[in-house]
Amino acid sequence: MLFARRKIDARGIEMAQQTAWRAAAAARGLGVRDLSDHVGIAITGLDLAQAMDAPTVSMLRAACAERTVILFAQQQALDPAGYLAFARRFGGRPDLHSQRHYCLPDHHEIFVVGNAQEGGKKIGASRVGLNWHTDHYHLPEPGLFTFLHALQVPSVAGDTRYANGMAALDALPADLRARIDPLQVLHSRARLFRMLFPEASEAEMEAERQKVPDVIHPLVRLHPELQRHGLYLGGEWGSTILGLAEAEAQVLFDSLLQHLIADPFCYQHAWQPGDVLMSDNRCSMHRASEWDEASEQRRLHRIILIDDQRPVH
Ligand SMILES: [Fe+2]
Repeated sequence: MLFARRKIDARGIEMAQQTAWRAAAAARGLGVRDLSDHVGIAITGLDLAQAMDAPTVSMLRAACAERTVILFAQQQALDPAGYLAFARRFGGRPDLHSQRHYCLPDHHEIFVVGNAQEGGKKIGASRVGLNWHTDHYHLPEPGLFTFLHALQVPSVAGDTRYANGMAALDALPADLRARIDPLQVLHSRARLFRMLFPEASEAEMEAERQKVPDVIHPLVRLHPELQRHGLYLGGEWGSTILGLAEAEAQVLFDSLLQHLIADPFCYQHAWQPGDVLMSDNRCSMHRASEWDEASEQRRLHRIILIDDQRPVH
């Protein structure tokens, strides 16, 4: 079921386009191009390997918060050390993935996504992100910014789609907005584990629960830098709305997710080699998609910065 959307105010979009970060980008001679109505901005004229002053970093941070995703194309010359140095400009704590063998030998912070091989050996995790989620939603302090650098991409398919939870929330009918406003969501690594491994025993489930305890976050969270509220659903395989009967909670979750991932609030990225995407996890979701793994190789380098704040309503 899709909710009837409130008409998007054209004047509001016009006003949003006059934001300070756009003027700051223009003043630096950078190119700025919207990739869809609410999500995605392509910024050209920056070499991410180069030094960057603090006002430029602030401008990029504001652009990413408002547009969910920034595309920096043609960053082929960016090496892993330069890539990590760029990501570190935005604060947070780089995630150190427990699957160390899928991270670069010299950089535990950089996780390799895809089916690429080196010397006949698989070097990345190919089947990650194939469900709607926010990075590390199951942690008390979840994902802040995520960076993906495309080194090899399939000629077709394998797109990544991003959804803006603030635009989606704004478009909900007022009565539904009021109904969901006080609700909370249980995010369970163990529940996700059950979806991934349905054959897991109760003991294995409990071990997973002990390792990563369940957390509760508000369904409607405040974006701390924009002071705007957005939907914060977590992940379609690991999250459940509290305070409702199980079936009702699932219906509401699915309805909100379908609303959020509809075209008006999304941007779908078709990867080119050299692309860097920077995304803000705080009020958004994304989903990777399949490609023909038998015939084409894909290699993305991922850095996830963990927030130092819990989501608040
Ligand atoms: Fe992800």
